[in-house]
Amino acid sequence: MSFDGKIYQDLTTDEGLRSHRQTFGQGMFADRAGFGFQHHRLVILSLGLLNAALLIAAAVIGVYCANAKDLQVSDLAATPLILEMNFLRNHTAIVKAKAEFQRALVKERADFVQIKQEVMQKKALTDSLEQRIRNLQAEKTNLQSNRTVLEKNCGRCPLEWVLLKTGCYYFSKSDAASRKNWSDSRADCVSKGSDLVVINSLEEQLSLNVNFPRLQSSSSMWWMNGFWIGLTATENQGAWLWVNNKTEEATMYWRAGEPRNSEAHSGTCAAFLSDADSMKTWYSGNCQQNQLNWICEMEPRRI
Ligand SMILES: *[C@@H]1O[C@H](CO)[C@@H](O)[C@H](O)[C@H]1NC(C)=O
Ligand SMILES: *[C@@H]1O[C@H](CO)[C@@H](O)[C@H](O)[C@H]1NC(C)=O
Ligand SMILES: *[C@@H]1O[C@H](CO)[C@@H](O)[C@H](O)[C@H]1NC(C)=O
Ligand SMILES: *[C@@H]1O[C@H](CO)[C@@H](O)[C@H](O)[C@H]1NC(C)=O
Repeated sequence: MSFDGKIYQDLTTDEGLRSHRQTFGQGMFADRAGFGFQHHRLVILSLGLLNAALLIAAAVIGVYCANAKDLQVSDLAATPLILEMNFLRNHTAIVKAKAEFQRALVKERADFVQIKQEVMQKKALTDSLEQRIRNLQAEKTNLQSNRTVLEKNCGRCPLEWVLLKTGCYYFSKSDAASRKNWSDSRADCVSKGSDLVVINSLEEQLSLNVNFPRLQSSSSMWWMNGFWIGLTATENQGAWLWVNNKTEEATMYWRAGEPRNSEAHSGTCAAFLSDADSMKTWYSGNCQQNQLNWICEMEPRRI
């Protein structure tokens, strides 16, 4: 290194160059005779040394330039690095934003679950309130029907029944298609906890005639418009018997000419059809073939 430094110093100072030139001139022109050969050898050696110095200098410059080039290259390479850094910085921001977003999402989800629960609770409450309303409405309907019963018959007869002084009465009021023969009519009364009506007083006879229902459609044959009562006869109409097994009473309220056995509709079962003459409303009918309405009777409830 000290050698390289010396040569470098020789080359860069004027002093060194001048001394080399002087040596060279003296060798060529002044000291030709005598020790001229030795001088030549010295010149060659000097030139060789100079060449070596130049070579080394070139190498040093080359290394320097190579380094400089590297520096330049790395400056150029830095551009994508900066971009990448920016990108990474942005990426960091994105990661942060993502985390924030996820936190927000978790919160939203929790809020949603809470709202959903609240909605479900409100729905349950609404449902239970609706159920209560339905119950109250049912109770109201029940009370209204009970009130109707009370208004109509003081609560002493079932709904749809009529309370008269002599008892509770049910008039079937069926249309032509659902009228019944005598035994089916009686079965209906029994199913209602009663029996076909037994008329055993003038008062009852008059009450039934007054309260006799007006049918919406009356049949062409008068005898089709009557109501079965609880009175039947033995086969030849020898004796009439009430469904309570009491034999015929002395007083009967037959229509004029009844009971008759001659007509097609005649038979051994009695029916009631209101008339201006309230003492003459019964007639005999065919128990099996005649399809009529019917009157049930029961004792009023005691209060
Ligand atoms: C980083 O974000 C900024 C602003 O949001 C944008 O201008 C820039 O282009 C982005 N850089 C990269 C490398 O995505
Ligand atoms: C209505 O009457 C029925 C029977 O007549 C009874 O069971 C029911 O409790 C009554 N309802 C009310 C609300 O009083
Ligand atoms: C009437 O008598 C019949 C038979 O004789 C009997 O089956 C029926 O239970 C009696 N009805 C009443 C209300 O006593
Ligand atoms: C009464 O009518 C029903 C149905 O139409 C029938 O089944 C029954 O046999 C009838 N009863 C009599 C005694 O004719």
